Amino acid sequence: MRKNIIIGNWKMFKTNSEAVEFVKEVESKLNIGDNLTAGIAVPSVMLSDVKKVAKKLIISAQNCFFEAEGAFTGEISIKMLKNIGVDHVVIGHSERRDIFCENDEMINKKNLALLKENLTPILCCGESLETYESGKTKEWVKKQITEAFKNVSKEDAKKVVIAYEPIWAIGTGKVATPEIAQDICKEIRMMIKDLYDESVSDVILIQYGGSVKPENIKEILSQPDIDGALVGGASLQVDSYLGLLK
Ligand code: PGA
Repeated sequence: MRKNIIIGNWKMFKTNSEAVEFVKEVESKLNIGDNLTAGIAVPSVMLSDVKKVAKKLIISAQNCFFEAEGAFTGEISIKMLKNIGVDHVVIGHSERRDIFCENDEMINKKNLALLKENLTPILCCGESLETYESGKTKEWVKKQITEAFKNVSKEDAKKVVIAYEPIWAIGTGKVATPEIAQDICKEIRMMIKDLYDESVSDVILIQYGGSVKPENIKEILSQPDIDGALVGGASLQVDSYLGLLK
């Protein structure tokens, strides 16, 4: 039985004090069942303070660099994240790929580096509107998944959380239908089965992301191959965030 994992992705929103207030309030109202993991991916500057007040929520970073240390101005290492108790990191988000030119090779290096240090990568994949409309979603996502899992051992592969996020559904209000989301998430599970075997594909967690809201999350999560959601806009307000976890 796979657990559900719902993670808010705050992107570049909120200040440190707003984030701490948010987490305190959510924590005071939160009742997480055994079958759910809930958390938020916050900007790196507030990870440390937010981590101190989060008792039930998982606090994830939104990015990291794959090198251990060195002359990489502006980057954050895995050791730095570990030192403040952060154990989840979003990698390969489409905004990182598109705006900050991250490619599959870099994302593979991040995946390997995180797994080596026993952190959980939340690995994003997903296609553009153009790719979707030309019917090439599956081959596009297959390339992203295959590259991201290069040299990842079978045991490590089980620990990765995959987030399928069609770019055309991110922040657009244009949510993929539960059928489309299920179809691709099922396909991703098959890809993992082909790369490894059923012992991995049966347990690996696959989230859907893209305009998920309290009003549509139930239907999305009722799909057999969808184990959770990565949620941007609807994770920024306390009521809406709590609504996602109900
Ligand atoms: P959205 O963002 O929920 O605002 O569409 C999702 C994401 O980018 O992870």
